[in-house]
Amino acid sequence: MKILVVGGGGREHAIIKKVKENKSVTEIFALPGNGGIAQDATCVAIGAKDIDGIVNFALENNIDYAIVAPDDPLVLGCVDALQEKGIPCFGPDSKAAIIEGSKVFSKNLMKKYNIPTAQYEVFDDMEKAIEYLQTAPIPTVIKADGLALGKGVIIANTREEAIDAVKSMMEDKVFGDSGNNVVIEEFLTGPEVSVLSFTDGKTVVPMVSSMDHKRALDNDQGLNTGGMGTVAPNPYYTDAVAKECMEKIFIPTMNAMNAEGRTFKGCLYFGLMLTPNGPKVIEYNCRFGDPETQVVLPLLDTDLLTIMQAVTNETLSDIDVKFAKKSACCVIMASNGYPKAYEKGFEMTIPAEISNNVYVAGAKLQDGKLLTDGGRVLGATAIADTLEDAIAKSYDMVKSIDFENAYYRTDIGKKALMAKEG
Ligand code: AMP
Ligand code: GLY
Repeated sequence: MKILVVGGGGREHAIIKKVKENKSVTEIFALPGNGGIAQDATCVAIGAKDIDGIVNFALENNIDYAIVAPDDPLVLGCVDALQEKGIPCFGPDSKAAIIEGSKVFSKNLMKKYNIPTAQYEVFDDMEKAIEYLQTAPIPTVIKADGLALGKGVIIANTREEAIDAVKSMMEDKVFGDSGNNVVIEEFLTGPEVSVLSFTDGKTVVPMVSSMDHKRALDNDQGLNTGGMGTVAPNPYYTDAVAKECMEKIFIPTMNAMNAEGRTFKGCLYFGLMLTPNGPKVIEYNCRFGDPETQVVLPLLDTDLLTIMQAVTNETLSDIDVKFAKKSACCVIMASNGYPKAYEKGFEMTIPAEISNNVYVAGAKLQDGKLLTDGGRVLGATAIADTLEDAIAKSYDMVKSIDFENAYYRTDIGKKALMAKEG
């Protein structure tokens, strides 16, 4: 089988390595992929948002199955366009991808179907939003409606900060049209859990839970990033919590999307907060999380491509999806300065004995050398019987990888370990 994977980050590298395990796979194309992914797939310089380019490539190369991984092409209708040409895909169509593409949509969905989430108001008028903020409880959370590279959420600790956030989104348009509408919501507290799930619209199968580390610096200080590391499973996500989430959140969300005529098929990501009043949805993503995928998929014991095809064929209930009863830790190595300005173009060396567990996010090949080419450069994932060992092993891996200007957090998994020890 010839497989096409749209995207070019660490998440896509983890998907590709896993899909390669299926014996029927003869070739994998990554569009655009990156210099590290080139070890495992044929990278083609077609951007993930170039829907026409992707469809033409798939037709010209007789692609048997396409996996669309990032949010942008999903929201833009990449799956719709591929399916129209008869190419089976993994990923939601644009009607379903709106669950991530519009926060106004997802908040209204949760309200309509009684899915627990933070209280909120929606504004399309800046003056009204500012008026509301004069008496709103503080801290408060301001969210741009549309996609904003994971940066469209501002936690405001004062009324002034909240008003500035609204102005930056609605007046200065820092997120472009994504800020035409804003959601202002209740500030929730509690541990955060990421749960990715497979769903074909009939069945929802949660994957092993995970914990992201979004802030740039140790002890959750510094700016929000795309994610500086992950561990799985998440110790806060007990069997009792899992049961409650299944009953109150996962199944109701699948049913709600069906009822709206927006059946979701693909990976539905639940960003949850375990509040004193029970689990609540912080956000939905219409795709695999990054870097959650880099700890979740290495623990998957069932063949990934088989599961994906079952999602496409709506036969997911026939598959026994199994995860290893082990722990995984992924430490992200970034370019120093990320998520702000950073230098790139430094040569990197990844020892051959660990390269199978290194997921490259930002690198390019030049004259046979692998050079850093992004804010997040790679993720090093280790699996072990205990979380403690997985953390130690992933840091050993990181120390054996060399490139100038490298930066990583030194406390990935620390919070999870403390939670385990109670
Ligand atoms: P998001 O980009 O939607 O993942 O949000 C980024 C981060 O903002 C989340 O991981 C949470 O830590 C935080 N956040 C979002 N919504 C809320 C909320 N209602 N209350 C508290 N924190 C929130
Ligand atoms: N790690 C969070 C996300 O993928 O959005």
